[in-house]
Amino acid sequence: MSRFPRAFALAAVMAATGAAASFSQDIAAGEKVFRKCKACHQVGDSAKNRVGPHLNDLFGRTAGIIEDFRFSKAMIAAGQDGLVWDDSTVDEFIAKPRSFMKGSKMSFVGLRKAEDRSNLIAYLKTFSSVAEPAEQTAATAAAGAEAVPSAQGREQTERPLARDAVIPDHGIFHLGREALPEEVAAWDIDIRPDGTGLPVGQGSVEDGEGIYEELCATCHGDFGEGRDRWPVLAGGHGTLTEERPEKTIGSYWPYLSTVFDYVRRAMPFGDAQSLSDDEVYAITAYLLYLNDVVTDEEFVLSHGNFNETRLPNETGFIGDDRSGESHVALNSEPCVSDCLPGEAQVVMRARILDVTPDSEASDGAGAIE
Ligand code: HEC
Ligand code: HEC
Repeated sequence: MSRFPRAFALAAVMAATGAAASFSQDIAAGEKVFRKCKACHQVGDSAKNRVGPHLNDLFGRTAGIIEDFRFSKAMIAAGQDGLVWDDSTVDEFIAKPRSFMKGSKMSFVGLRKAEDRSNLIAYLKTFSSVAEPAEQTAATAAAGAEAVPSAQGREQTERPLARDAVIPDHGIFHLGREALPEEVAAWDIDIRPDGTGLPVGQGSVEDGEGIYEELCATCHGDFGEGRDRWPVLAGGHGTLTEERPEKTIGSYWPYLSTVFDYVRRAMPFGDAQSLSDDEVYAITAYLLYLNDVVTDEEFVLSHGNFNETRLPNETGFIGDDRSGESHVALNSEPCVSDCLPGEAQVVMRARILDVTPDSEASDGAGAIE
């Protein structure tokens, strides 16, 4: 305890007893809460600094000292003034980051519920070597069968994920080997405009709202308006013919399958493919609601009614079957190998041809010769 300044140490003891009195700490529940942090923070064996610093060995660590991470001046100063992360300081910080530390660049609204914070702290402690093992075992036991104590077994989704597969040793880039079934399965999740490939499941606008606020609103804004410079997801109706069209799901995207596919495949940013299928249905339903495509808050989107919902701009796209291509017109197979009669000759080099637009050309037009 000697490395803690007195005031912090005292506060830590008080918070620890306070938390223990009101509710037992639940690591599994804390892991769920951590989903709110995952867009920016990583924990575990392969944790790296992302938007925020990694949070391994957080407890007992001075604020703002992780190497290779650019902290705000405020965070560095707080560390120099003696701020050390412990139960009480982490609790206070994540409750209301901006009021705890003016000038912190952690753009996170905060966790209102004390119980969420307490469970989250219990979860984060499993990645800190200062957590006493006895305490961990007790809490894990209390958390029930769902708890996954090892850092490696943490990602638990029904779909196989390539990142969970053990990749056979095969050169530094792992190229030139047969793809693992897990890798193929991880890629093979596309959904076609007609709904082919949709998983069985469902989700409501209401559920989607909760998940969206929790996992998406930090970047995309409460109503899909896009915070800072993150992408806008809603609005922009009728702007496509304007000089600066606002291309959103509602104003531009042709098919709902793309929304489902994109969210399921790539979001939340930094923690892709962590959502369950039902969660993706719910978020997709909510995105329809944010875009005024559905107006009923009770609406439930499922694999059954997916094709009944159309996006407004579907007719703004035209089918292009390439029927005008010469090989189609000639009714012949397109040539795919040895198509050039005789030896191939290099007639020009791209560098000489100067195909790269001049960065100095300010008028835009005429930059490409
Ligand atoms: C939108 C991104 C974002 C989210 C979401 C976020 N953080 Fe952060 N966090 C940051 C950034 C950026 C910093 C660095 C802040 C600074 O330098 O002022 C940070 C700093 C921290 C620190 C200080 C670490 C240190 O080494 O001093 C802690 C602790 C922390 N975050 C915990 C959390 C927890 C717990 C959550 C979830 C409840 C969370 N953060 C959610 C971006 C985020
Ligand atoms: C940490 C910030 C962040 C979070 C959290 C996040 N996103 Fe994104 N989102 C992005 C970025 C960045 C892009 C653009 C990615 C690109 O263009 O490669 C994006 C793109 C998208 C797009 C495509 C937008 C377009 O018009 O091209 C959708 C849809 C989307 N996100 C939905 C979601 C949903 C749903 C969630 C929550 C489950 C979520 N995002 C969470 C940062 C975030």
